[in-house]
Amino acid sequence: MKKLFISFIAGISIAASATTPVYLDDSKPIEDRVEDALSRMTLREKINIIHAQSKFSAPGVPRLGIPELWCTDGPMGVRPEVLWDEWDQARWTNDSCTAFPSLTALAATWNPEMAELYGKSIGAEARFRNKSVLLGPGINIYRTPLNGRNFEYMGEDPYLTSQMVVPYVQGVQSNGVAACVKHFALNNNEINRHTSNPIVDDRTLYEIYLPGYKAAAQEGEAWSFMGGYNLFRGEHASYNPILMNQILKGEWGWDGAVISDWGAVHDTRTAVTGGLDMEFGSWTNGLTNGQSNAYDNYFLANPYYNGIMDGTYSTDELDDKVRRVLRLTFRTSMNRNKPYGAMGSDEHVAACREIGGEGVVLLQNRNNLLPLNLDKIKKIAVIGENAIKMMTVGGGSSSLKARYEITPLDGLRKRVGDDAEITYARGYVGDPSGEYNGVVTGQDLNDSRSPEELQAEALKAAAEADVVLFFGGLNKSNHQDCEDTDRETMDLPYGQNELIKALAAVNPNIAVINISGTGVSMPWTDNVASILQAWYLGNETGNTLADILTGDVNPSGKLPYTYYASLDQVGAHKLGEYPGHPSIDALGNEVMDIPYNEGVFVGYRFIDKNKLKPTFPFGHGLSYTDFTYGTATIDKTEGTADDTFTVTIPVTNTGSREGKETVQLYISDLKASVDRPVKELKGFKKVSLKPGETATVSFEIGRDALSFFDADKHEWVCEPGKFEALVGASSADIRSKINFKIK
Ligand code: BGC
Repeated sequence: MKKLFISFIAGISIAASATTPVYLDDSKPIEDRVEDALSRMTLREKINIIHAQSKFSAPGVPRLGIPELWCTDGPMGVRPEVLWDEWDQARWTNDSCTAFPSLTALAATWNPEMAELYGKSIGAEARFRNKSVLLGPGINIYRTPLNGRNFEYMGEDPYLTSQMVVPYVQGVQSNGVAACVKHFALNNNEINRHTSNPIVDDRTLYEIYLPGYKAAAQEGEAWSFMGGYNLFRGEHASYNPILMNQILKGEWGWDGAVISDWGAVHDTRTAVTGGLDMEFGSWTNGLTNGQSNAYDNYFLANPYYNGIMDGTYSTDELDDKVRRVLRLTFRTSMNRNKPYGAMGSDEHVAACREIGGEGVVLLQNRNNLLPLNLDKIKKIAVIGENAIKMMTVGGGSSSLKARYEITPLDGLRKRVGDDAEITYARGYVGDPSGEYNGVVTGQDLNDSRSPEELQAEALKAAAEADVVLFFGGLNKSNHQDCEDTDRETMDLPYGQNELIKALAAVNPNIAVINISGTGVSMPWTDNVASILQAWYLGNETGNTLADILTGDVNPSGKLPYTYYASLDQVGAHKLGEYPGHPSIDALGNEVMDIPYNEGVFVGYRFIDKNKLKPTFPFGHGLSYTDFTYGTATIDKTEGTADDTFTVTIPVTNTGSREGKETVQLYISDLKASVDRPVKELKGFKKVSLKPGETATVSFEIGRDALSFFDADKHEWVCEPGKFEALVGASSADIRSKINFKIK
């Protein structure tokens, strides 16, 4: 038989015979393969591939050799195998993953190279486990600090999110694994997540809630998207004609596949017409009707098939869905050129530690308490449950079965060795459990001592130590950074505020290491010397934190969201009626209307507008060295909207350690026909500088950075007039400004 050599990768040749069907011939354009496969499929086969056959897989087309499509969570590590039709883990022994830092930690690096490294690494793990779709990244905007899933997302700013999501997606997909960007869109709280009905105007939608997704779709070329559970303008997000058909597939010209969130489909007709391509996770109990395969009763299974047979639906929408699923399959499971992937490799461990190290944010550092001076410090008191609690288990669908997890106390003990004595006191008992869907940490954290006994032990240890390190925060249990529940307040749980104040009273040399994925109130900032925002850092948590605390790594993270002093500073709470009010929608369903009355004034945009002083501003983060900014210059002070303006600023490391600084560019439209934010992030660059070294940082400013979304015209508009470029170290620490004019 005549052989055609169609690809040569790493010395492996794959041959297609002259009679190979087009859809199996990967020398052919993907669209030809899609059409060929489509033409060979029966109606039943088409129906089959657009819905699940198990919790996380769809069946493919066995007769044609088109393989199953396997999905996995995401977004911070590859989820352990679960049973065919249960959430419980399947108890495999080969599915322990590398747990990477939470996506807020990634966003806090403000370093797109870290996002690419993250994507490549997690994608390789998914690939090794033979998964075609990684259910992540999550990029819902941080609208309120109470949202239970903020830790899975990238913060409050659409520009920062856009810059970070693109390399993450590209990194994942370089493995032949699709990223599934979720939860499109407006899934900004967990409370009432199936009935939340955000009421958002177009300008707010396009300026705040869509840019990250648009970047992921167009620049990242993400192969799949996941719809949210929430509603939007009368329809659920997963098959919302405005979000999916009009915007994602229409305006953005996206050719990928829309996957429902698990159990987000409620109806066949709208699922058919609303732009959904694959249905997953519908509740099969109660739908079984005694049939052998409950999945046949999915809304896009028999009900759809029967509807086509009796003429209720045409096959046009079906063929579009099938094309998209086939495209997804050819890009992933039927991509013969994809790498093999790897799990738990040294590279992934190193990536976990590097990303985490760049993400930790030094919020405050009075008297240079940090880094710990081990020449002088002889006795360290480590206090707090989060010093010993494993955090990779918990939090909902992002919960992991990690290969190992180094706790902060263990990491510190290993690094400090004999240089200083470390005493540990728990101080409080928060959540001693450590189980999710059958995955257990194996830790026994039960403690029967009274709160008074625990506190007394902690105070004694603190009083006797040279320095106190308090590891507290949240812990991914219900209401403490966890899917399906929001936080109930911004306060730290388990009496931590009182404990921190009491500890600071006996020893002012105290650093608080707050482990959380969302902002908490910190009524003790004046009492303590140093504060680190430490996120959930995965396998390498303890080593990463030891790196920072001892100065082996100089902190360089910046906050990806505002650290509010109180909920009153949050637009969503002050104006937006969070979590909304009960209402009845057009179809007679009970919903929770959530007017997003704060509009585009989310995060620092609300802080600026109302001249508020948050505990720590968006973009804030200190270093163990100092950076001095020079004066910004611009290449021209006047031009048209089609010109590119270049703003340049010198930044010098004036301290004594090597360090990294993220230089931020904000743009202010000084006079506009609409109420624009005081300033908006439109550029950032992270530079690494040795002591005494200067970098010249430059930013290009074009139309995109100057425009607002005109809802009436339904287009981005750059109005002539005066603008200001503001360059600084955070949204509240602007070091230099320069004006320019658009004619
Ligand atoms: C979550 C998704 C997740 C899916 C599958 C849903 O409950 O909202 O983010 O990917 O479950 O576990």
